[in-house]
Amino acid sequence: MGEASRFCHFRGERLLEASRLTKIYRVGGEPVYALRDVEFVAPQGDFVVINGPSGSGKTTFLNLIAVIDRPTSGEVYIEGEPTSTQSEGQLAALRKTTIGLVFQSFNLIPVLSAAENVEYPLLLQGSERSPRRARVAAMLAEVGLSELARRRPSALSGGQRQRVAIARALITGPKIVLADEPTANLDSETGGAVMDLMRRLNEEHCVTFVVVTHDPAVSKYAKRRVRILDGRLEEGGDHGMVDSAS
Ligand SMILES: Nc1ncnc2c1ncn2[C@@H]1O[C@H](COP(=O)(O)OP(=O)(O)OP(=O)(O)O)[C@@H](O)[C@H]1O
Ligand SMILES: [Mg+2]
Repeated sequence: MGEASRFCHFRGERLLEASRLTKIYRVGGEPVYALRDVEFVAPQGDFVVINGPSGSGKTTFLNLIAVIDRPTSGEVYIEGEPTSTQSEGQLAALRKTTIGLVFQSFNLIPVLSAAENVEYPLLLQGSERSPRRARVAAMLAEVGLSELARRRPSALSGGQRQRVAIARALITGPKIVLADEPTANLDSETGGAVMDLMRRLNEEHCVTFVVVTHDPAVSKYAKRRVRILDGRLEEGGDHGMVDSAS
């Protein structure tokens, strides 16, 4: 463990917080309780793995803390600020600057190269060409893809695509990265490499990760494990070894 990681471990800020978070979907007039009164706090530098069976509410929870979706009731706080009173424009800005997202299916833009995919969020922010290019090159090096920068996603393996997606999620320097089933389309070895990468980025850059998965193998990368069952969140999971890296 280097300086950065020790620094990281001692940070106690309530970077991300959910209070009494409830989501009720309506299906043909019938309520579906996807999340019930969920309480959650993640300090800066945390690496939380959320387990739970299919349909338990994991993606719903992630979409709420990503401020992509709004809860039926309850509150999500980002850096201590309540989000329910913020406009769509303010939430969009928050998503662009503070939160990075990684998906199961990578969600890369097929006509862009790996480097252009990673560059894209910086283009949206209007950052200048020369520092932008330098940052993309550094980020690609960080995830071990310098040699493949010009390839399109279709010419990359699943693990390489997910590393592009992780680089894209991190390029704007977000404080929080949220990942929904990031290893689901990967074999176990490649999935392990992707998790190693996320954990290293967590340690070295003090980025808070919340990773949702139903893959028990992912749990061993957690600093903290949480479980969702029937829309209820409970601390502690039943797999793996907490804080294996320290
Ligand atoms: N848009 C929606 N409309 C209605 N019901 C929904 C909607 N999205 C999710 N649900 C329901 O909410 C519950 C939680 O779904 P969610 O997608 O959060 O589960 P999950 O834990 O991510 O499952 P999986 O592991 O299969 O991805 C499920 O009962 C699901 O059917
Ligand atoms: Mg899901």
